[in-house]
Amino acid sequence: MKLFDTHTHLEDKRFDDDREDVIAELKYNNVLKAITVGTDIETSRQCIDIASKHEGMYAAVGLHPHDAKDFKESDIAEFEKMAADKKVVAIGEIGLDYHYDFSPRDMQMHAFEIQMDMAQRLNLPAVYHIREAFGDFLPMVRQGRCANNAVMHCYGGSLESAKICLDAGMMISFTGVITFKNANKILDVVKYVPIERLMIETDCPYMAPVPYRGKRNEPKYVAEVARKMAEIKGIAIEEMAEITYNNAERFFNI
Ligand code: NI
Repeated sequence: MKLFDTHTHLEDKRFDDDREDVIAELKYNNVLKAITVGTDIETSRQCIDIASKHEGMYAAVGLHPHDAKDFKESDIAEFEKMAADKKVVAIGEIGLDYHYDFSPRDMQMHAFEIQMDMAQRLNLPAVYHIREAFGDFLPMVRQGRCANNAVMHCYGGSLESAKICLDAGMMISFTGVITFKNANKILDVVKYVPIERLMIETDCPYMAPVPYRGKRNEPKYVAEVARKMAEIKGIAIEEMAEITYNNAERFFNI
């Protein structure tokens, strides 16, 4: 079996004590590839550093909506410079988060739009973090104002919203949330999404799947996401792993 964890935060300080061990044991757990995703300038640099040291590891660079309040126009030039690194495969994570509202919404929108433009310009796929912000996001999708070569990371919206994203050509990625007991609504979305549009991720160190819920999440637990997805789709986990692996390679052009 081979697994591709498309969204990790291995640069997170919760991995400071054992990062190299966590990465080293991935191949013994069938996780052959992973993307570590930046949330600001500093973490994006750290992600590139991790990716450059390890085979099968890649990086995404971008400013998270939580940090949009710190956005400076000069950041774009910095991100563009980083994106020239051959291990950088996407712009992200970028988007809108109205659940926490850590940054004013107009600033989130500005940082999101300017980074979508950057992704288009650099011809890189984008990784979207959209939480409780579909009211503003979907009209942008419908009007073609989004970079549609994008993945909806840690998808948590409705089935209707997912249909609009799929119509626009996006990929949909799921975390261990689909293994949670109260996940009924999201399972309908997994059921609906065509298999060639699915990707799997841990979003570690957050979102640990059952039976590791509450612990620090790690990329090796992405197998639990594949297992649940396979169960929903009625196929073997090995097949689900292979399909999502190939989808990720195709989407991120790896
Ligand atoms: Ni993330």
